[in-house]
Amino acid sequence: MSGVAQPGMPLVLVMATANHDKAAEIRQILGAAGGVRLLPRPADVPDVEETGDTLEANARLKAVALSAATGTPAVADDTGLEVDALGGAPGVRSSRYAGEGATYADNVAKLLAELDASPGRGGPRRARFRTVVMVRFPDGREVWREGVVAGTVAETPRGEGGFGYDPVFVPDEGDGRTFAELRPEEKHAISHRGRALRALAEALRREAPST
Ligand code: IMP
Repeated sequence: MSGVAQPGMPLVLVMATANHDKAAEIRQILGAAGGVRLLPRPADVPDVEETGDTLEANARLKAVALSAATGTPAVADDTGLEVDALGGAPGVRSSRYAGEGATYADNVAKLLAELDASPGRGGPRRARFRTVVMVRFPDGREVWREGVVAGTVAETPRGEGGFGYDPVFVPDEGDGRTFAELRPEEKHAISHRGRALRALAEALRREAPST
């Protein structure tokens, strides 16, 4: 594959996510990495059902749908929180853990309740966020990368920043604060999404197909 995100010629990508929190993070992280110009997801593209059973499959479903609908290369992100004491749940079902239409608070409440009820309760509550980010080109070529951050699930939510499970995730590489207690740039420096997107930007610089 030949390079496309050359200096002075940003690669234009449409974002597949309809989640404003994720879109904001993607803008901040890819904006800092450079080489890419991001377009918002057009409002008239129908929701994409996340029927895959892996993060990679769901990222592909979203990226394919948006690149097909717009004729523009699309970037999609699929993320899961994997908790060891829950056999890797909520994992690929993280957004609807407490049911269809669940709020972030509903999902966090269910996670804490499941951990309290688990045979390993009182244990170390090991967990990790995993993200797959994928760029899909209208001709079917794709570039994807994974990012992981390890940590523990806190006993109670703390902090106002971030989104989703951030108030209960304490990264190993931090100082005991939850992701929601970190400034955005502190979170992005070590987060699953920061790692995946920086690796993606690097891969696009090296190997993106010409458009
Ligand atoms: P999906 O990738 O759209 O399937 O979303 C997965 C779910 O995981 C989201 O609805 C959030 O609840 C959660 N999530 C995704 N990214 C993060 C993050 O960076 N921090 C905390 N929770 C997240």
